[in-house]
Amino acid sequence: MKKAVILGVGPLEGLGGALCLRFAREGLHVFVAGRSSKKLEKVVEEITNNGNVATSVVTDATSDEDIKNLFEVAQNTGHGDVELAIYNAGNNTPGKISEMDSEYFENSWRVGCFGGFLFAREAIRRHKEEPLSLLFTGASASLRGRAGFGAFNSAKGALRNLAQALAKECAESGIHVGHVVVDGPIWGEKIKVRYPEWVAEKGEEAMISLDGLTDAYFYLYKQRRRAWTFEIDLRTSLERW
Ligand SMILES: NC(=O)c1ccc[n+]([C@@H]2O[C@H](COP(=O)([O-])OP(=O)(O)OC[C@H]3O[C@@H](n4cnc5c(N)ncnc54)[C@H](OP(=O)(O)O)[C@@H]3O)[C@@H](O)[C@H]2O)c1
Repeated sequence: MKKAVILGVGPLEGLGGALCLRFAREGLHVFVAGRSSKKLEKVVEEITNNGNVATSVVTDATSDEDIKNLFEVAQNTGHGDVELAIYNAGNNTPGKISEMDSEYFENSWRVGCFGGFLFAREAIRRHKEEPLSLLFTGASASLRGRAGFGAFNSAKGALRNLAQALAKECAESGIHVGHVVVDGPIWGEKIKVRYPEWVAEKGEEAMISLDGLTDAYFYLYKQRRRAWTFEIDLRTSLERW
């Protein structure tokens, strides 16, 4: 059975959760990784209830040790190779630079960029001959700086450059690296719970659909070696950009 490692999984109705459900439905054994075992278990339960296969691995994206353990578990559980690895961890970190603690800025970079490096390095080191798709989740922040979001913008921008360097460094070894720019809010639990008034005002049509996003990751995963895309950007028809 082919395997997928997906890191940065929160609620079922979030991008990480939706990616796990989608790739499990496509027949991959999904290693569901994130910080909260409670959230991971919910995703695994949903997958197994659907008759598909998943394993949860509690993983802090900023920990070298945890990431090594994640890939070790993936390698040693079941048969087959990891053919898909997705780095989806992210935490929006707003704030003015002049008012920001250095620790806050550094933590934003640790989750947004450094974890991507740890994750990619481990995936590449363990890659053998089968094709591997290594995908990263970006945001509007990946492409531009914005007042009040300097920490998040710089972390996501750095992650994108890391992904582009990896795409060039690893292509000949059969590793397809892709970066998905999520340009706008996602219609998921986080936005609905945290910003209900804003959601009521804007409505579902102004938020990016989880199914649309997972379609894009699946498209990247299925691409042939002689026609690879590095980057896809996704937004709603109402988004100003
Ligand atoms: N939500 C949006 O509107 C939006 C818009 C544009 C781009 N994005 C990007 O899309 C991705 C997914 O966002 P989402 O909002 O849908 O969330 P999600 O996929 O539901 O979950 C992403 C998860 O990353 C996790 N995370 C944060 N720090 C971590 C760490 N140190 N180790 C492991 N996991 C960690 C969070 O875990 P906890 O649940 O434990 O906090 C969060 O649940 C992120 O990369 C985000 O930047 C989101």
